[in-house]
Amino acid sequence: MIETAILDVLLPSWWEIKVTVAAAVFVIAAYWYFTYGTDRGEAGSDADRSLVDNSASSLDVSKMGNLKEGINSAYIVKVELLAAKNLIGANLNGTSDPYAIITCGTEKRFSSMVPGSRNPMWGEEFNFSVDELPVQINVTIYDWDIIWKSAVLGSVTVPVESEGQTGAVWYTLDSPSGQVCLHIRTIKLPVNFSRAMNGFAGANARRRISLDKQGPTVVHQKPGPLQTIFHLLPDEVVEHSYSCAVERSFLYHGRMYVSAWHICFHSNVFSKQMKVIIPFQDIDEIRRSQHAFINPAVTIVLRMGAGGHGVPPLGSPDGRVRYMFASFWNRNHALRALQRALKNFHAMLEAEKKEMVESALRAHSSSIRGSTRHTKNPDDSVSKNGNKQSFIKEEVLVDIYNDVFPCTAEEFFNLLLDDNSSFTTEYRSQRKDTNLVMGQWHPAEEYDGQVREITFRSLCTSPMCPPDTAMTEYQHAVLSPDKKTLVFETVQQAHDVPFGSYFEIHCRWQVVAKDQNSSTIAIKVGAHFKKWCVMQSKIRSGAINEYKKEVELMIDVARAYVRSSTSGTRTEETASSASVTELSS
Ligand SMILES: *[C@@H]1O[C@H](CO)[C@@H](O)[C@H](O)[C@H]1NC(C)=O
Ligand SMILES: *[C@@H]1O[C@H](CO)[C@@H](O)[C@H](O)[C@H]1NC(C)=O
Ligand SMILES: *[C@@H]1O[C@H](CO)[C@@H](O)[C@H](O)[C@H]1NC(C)=O
Ligand SMILES: *[C@@H]1O[C@H](CO)[C@@H](O)[C@H](O)[C@H]1NC(C)=O
Ligand SMILES: *[C@@H]1O[C@H](CO)[C@@H](O)[C@H](O)[C@H]1NC(C)=O
Ligand SMILES: *[C@@H]1O[C@H](CO)[C@@H](O)[C@H](O)[C@H]1NC(C)=O
Repeated sequence: MIETAILDVLLPSWWEIKVTVAAAVFVIAAYWYFTYGTDRGEAGSDADRSLVDNSASSLDVSKMGNLKEGINSAYIVKVELLAAKNLIGANLNGTSDPYAIITCGTEKRFSSMVPGSRNPMWGEEFNFSVDELPVQINVTIYDWDIIWKSAVLGSVTVPVESEGQTGAVWYTLDSPSGQVCLHIRTIKLPVNFSRAMNGFAGANARRRISLDKQGPTVVHQKPGPLQTIFHLLPDEVVEHSYSCAVERSFLYHGRMYVSAWHICFHSNVFSKQMKVIIPFQDIDEIRRSQHAFINPAVTIVLRMGAGGHGVPPLGSPDGRVRYMFASFWNRNHALRALQRALKNFHAMLEAEKKEMVESALRAHSSSIRGSTRHTKNPDDSVSKNGNKQSFIKEEVLVDIYNDVFPCTAEEFFNLLLDDNSSFTTEYRSQRKDTNLVMGQWHPAEEYDGQVREITFRSLCTSPMCPPDTAMTEYQHAVLSPDKKTLVFETVQQAHDVPFGSYFEIHCRWQVVAKDQNSSTIAIKVGAHFKKWCVMQSKIRSGAINEYKKEVELMIDVARAYVRSSTSGTRTEETASSASVTELSS
């Protein structure tokens, strides 16, 4: 029972969500306007695309790593950019200001720029994740120009065919002059559960995967600057924005945008368009600094191996690259806000990691299809130790239904939930759900009682959704030893709806014997967010409202089912007259 609400949860409330998002975007836009009185920095972003220094569009479109789909990459390719020599002199005085763009598979990183040199030393490292070998590494060296589009000094492509390392090798560039020295190490990662738990899933993987993979299903939210300028996912919204300048052998004035996952910067001076995109994931520290000794600045130091995104970062002796921003209206205020945002990101990452472990555990134990049935009754495996996990999140639940039901707790399980019951099939077919596949109840080590998994497809009618979506529902049932109390819990996950991977619907039915032939039923429901989501509160209230309607149909079908199963043996006056009591509002 308790089955689906997720769909309907989303459906009617989807328009509201859309409106809310549009309103939020408006509020943010208005906020910029009134706070800063400047434009939103979008002007010219299309017109000048040809001048963009290697537009960010190939970065950062991504998808959430989902445990069920496996983890995304199987190798780490570490490219050390050591040095280059005999580069072409692009400046009038015969020098160049070289920086490199390194691509590997679908990822792309910027090295720092070494001013005034034809023989630059970098000593910078770049980690790339790739799915499979062989893969090509392309290193292209550019000459930085303060005003114009950067000129190419030469490039080379190096294939990586297997694990191992190359040592430091000089490669000749495909231009009249120049070589580049690289050290490439390829490491295979174990693709298994433990790896999934070690940070490749969750927010970490979320924004870093490439274009060729499908993004999460997306809400049709009005695109903001993060989408129009930086091509980030539609669910990223600007949380703060600042007028400031990026230091790049010159202060380029523009605007910084901060979302939950990125710090972005855009400027368009002398029609040289510059974009910096820094995933929080890549940041080692954010610290106070000075530009030209007197101008208060903020320096963002990236982790070793991160590489720059969008424009060449600044190098440093320890090999970690960094970006420096100056000319804030209030540097200290901006610094604190950025540091807080970094802290929030790490908190979110931790929460998601923990959540991934819990969901994976639940999915894992529920989906074992019982080849041998260990128990018939859900009470047989009631725990003797206190070590069991809770199946759902108590704290998200709110009361939605309380009533009397015409059978005992034990009958409730045997008639409606047991493997031989056709109640679920009947209820699902009334909802016009299809492709129902029901697993069998089996005990799970991690939980009291028994668990099973059911899957089906459910119709969607909202214009925001596909015609139907795959659903998974994990179920958990425990009957108390005295058989007077049944706790039935479900976790629903919709796979194809907008933000479907961000939340689960958690539900608990508590059936307590009232007298010999009847019991009380209390139903609670809530939306549990596995990841931070823009529309959290909307989805939550939508879920609760929809589930209330859902429950009425389920209870109707259940009453009819119980009535027909026990017909002739009893009357049902105790229950049928009672009506839904809604407790929450
Ligand atoms: C050469 O010219 C570039 C600008 O074109 C300048 O940045 C650099 O300092 C000059 N180098 C020398 C050695 O004069
Ligand atoms: C490397 O990539 C650049 C930019 O995509 C391309 O122009 C160049 O031809 C590539 N170099 C090689 C040697 O394939
Ligand atoms: C995952 O791989 C690591 C290293 O190969 C291994 O130690 C670990 O036991 C594996 N874990 C699982 C769950 O297979
Ligand atoms: C790059 O890989 C090294 C280990 O090989 C790791 O310590 C470092 O954190 C990685 N950097 C990033 C940005 O992932
Ligand atoms: C299902 O089997 C249980 C015993 O495992 C039995 O008590 C119950 O009556 C059966 N229900 C139906 C609908 O056949
Ligand atoms: C419960 O069922 C018994 C017969 O099975 C009947 O005698 C009794 O009146 C019923 N009690 C209630 C409260 O319906």
